[in-house]
Amino acid sequence: MDRSRQHLVAPSILSADFARIADAVALIEKSRGDWVHLDVMDGTFVPNITFGPKMVADIRPLTKLPLDVHLMIEHPDRIIPAFVKAGADHITFHVENNVHVHRIVSQIQDTGLKAGISIVPSTPVSAIGELLDTVDIILVMTVNPGWGGQELIPKCLEKVRLLDSLRRENNYHFLISVDGGVNRDTAQAVREAGTDVLISGSSFFAAADPPREVTLFRTGKEV
Ligand code: DX5
Ligand code: ZN
Repeated sequence: MDRSRQHLVAPSILSADFARIADAVALIEKSRGDWVHLDVMDGTFVPNITFGPKMVADIRPLTKLPLDVHLMIEHPDRIIPAFVKAGADHITFHVENNVHVHRIVSQIQDTGLKAGISIVPSTPVSAIGELLDTVDIILVMTVNPGWGGQELIPKCLEKVRLLDSLRRENNYHFLISVDGGVNRDTAQAVREAGTDVLISGSSFFAAADPPREVTLFRTGKEV
């Protein structure tokens, strides 16, 4: 994966108007977002329900940006093939509700896609310790998943620091994504913790000037 650019920004369409998704994707492109983040929720693993593979398939022709699918669902292995077929580039799933995590990582990577593992705020890095040399993306949730617009839990950034130091020590290749409560007040701390990818939902779509906001998240500078 491209780590030559220091920080990537991945707006999440969770906070977009679902009746105007094409406009949301166009805004992400215009704002020079790096990835389109797609939050899939099933009403069981998390209380909220969003969308499934059809949304990914419908967005696919609209953009060449990587489609970064974040599965917050039970039994991700059953539906991963549908997301692959729909045109996802990265598929991230949670460690908390899966036993055979290594197998699911292989299932994703065998299709040629990047595989990500996510941990919620109460899950320690040690829960994914055996997978650090294999996985492509580690998505550290800095809110309890389910909704946009929550406040970042600062303690979660300690896990980003730990992952970043383990990566340096062992030459692991994974990217670190941070998801939840990223905004102009928290972005600097998120970047400094060692994050590669800043995921932003509500702060991107509520911004008066989204392109400017993306630059701010990425660099800390307004322009
Ligand atoms: C939360 C989702 C996030 C969400 C972030 O469960 O995984 O991707 O869109 O939203 P904000 O940026 O508003 O916290
Ligand atoms: Zn997400």
